[in-house]
Amino acid sequence: MQPLRVALDDRAYDIHIGTGLLDDVAPILPFVKKAGVAVVTNETVAPLYLSRLAAALRQAGVAVIEIVLPDGEAYKDWPTLNRIFDVLLEQHAERSTTLIALGGGVIGDMTGFAAACYQRGVPFIQIPTTLLSQVDSSVGGKTAINHPRGKNMIGAFYQPKLVLADLDTLDTLPDRELAAGLAEVIKYGLIRDPEFLVWLEANMTRLLARDKGALAYAVRRSCEHKAEVVAADEKEAGERALLNLGHTFGHAIETGLGYGEWLHGEAVAAGTMMAAELSRRLGWLGESDVQRIEALFRAAGLPVCGPDLGAERYLELMSHDKKVQDGRLRLVLLERLGRAVLSDAAPEAEIRAAIAARVAA
Ligand code: NAD
Ligand code: GLY
Repeated sequence: MQPLRVALDDRAYDIHIGTGLLDDVAPILPFVKKAGVAVVTNETVAPLYLSRLAAALRQAGVAVIEIVLPDGEAYKDWPTLNRIFDVLLEQHAERSTTLIALGGGVIGDMTGFAAACYQRGVPFIQIPTTLLSQVDSSVGGKTAINHPRGKNMIGAFYQPKLVLADLDTLDTLPDRELAAGLAEVIKYGLIRDPEFLVWLEANMTRLLARDKGALAYAVRRSCEHKAEVVAADEKEAGERALLNLGHTFGHAIETGLGYGEWLHGEAVAAGTMMAAELSRRLGWLGESDVQRIEALFRAAGLPVCGPDLGAERYLELMSHDKKVQDGRLRLVLLERLGRAVLSDAAPEAEIRAAIAARVAA
């Protein structure tokens, strides 16, 4: 498959999507200097894929530092980030050492942030191994760690040099994680691609069965959307915010329950149902549109209601959202299926009502 290009002038890069990519380090080598690489991964992914990647790199003459972190959203924090810096310093990693993120979105976001900070910035490469990270988090340069008061609150925009999405790694992904990734895939259909939405409705069974052809299409289509949006609005001055459909509600779920309780994609699915319900209350979506979205999330095995934290707690958590401007909450809503808008039009009472309508009884 031809690589996709994220067109960002001097920071442009390729996204390779395919199979067997972990064994072929040729695309990585142009971004590696004499100082070599530091591969950052976690305790779950390391036994599956680290030795293969490290062996292929060493065979190509590349010095490899291995950094294995604990697994989980709860570790997307300062102390764990600091462990990356500890090893980089212990091992005398240089400004020309390339960091490689091998794992899901947690590893990708943390490694990217470490790369942005270590010696004020070193090159980094994303090798995403979850569906969610292949369709979303590895592309676009958002890097971050969580704060106890808010998701992804501490971070930087810092673009990778390359993204390698090896579809074979999805073979070992637990079903729940595959479903979580589908939430972000469905998102692209909802916000900007009604035809893709129809394709997803027709092909959900193939995706859940991990049909490589269906996965390849879904990952590629998703990355095409992400690359286009990021190229147009890298720092989220406008259109990029639309990629956050369901995320303001979803981040409240993740923070409110404690990181790792719900998967990010699960929280996004329930949050998207809240956004859809709110869009219906504003007269933008019809009841049948909301039912269609719900049916698609259900088919993917995703939740369609959030936990009952209480509307007050949701609103408190949502008040920390990065899209809050001049103290006003702005939400990504749906004008119609396939068209999203960033809006502060919803009265607070309607937001409360939408939350209440979409929490588990
Ligand atoms: P994750 O990184 O926690 O990975 C999910 C689980 O799958 C983990 O237990 C991981 O160890 C395991 N895993 C990874 N690859 C595997 C494989 N091939 N086989 C078996 N197990 C594997 O979660 P995620 O869903 O990949 O990413 C979620 C994170 O991404 C959240 O922190 C979210 O905030 C972030 N995110 C960032 C962006 C962005 O633009 N930067 C976008 C969306 C989400
Ligand atoms: N996941 C949203 C973004 O990258 O902007």
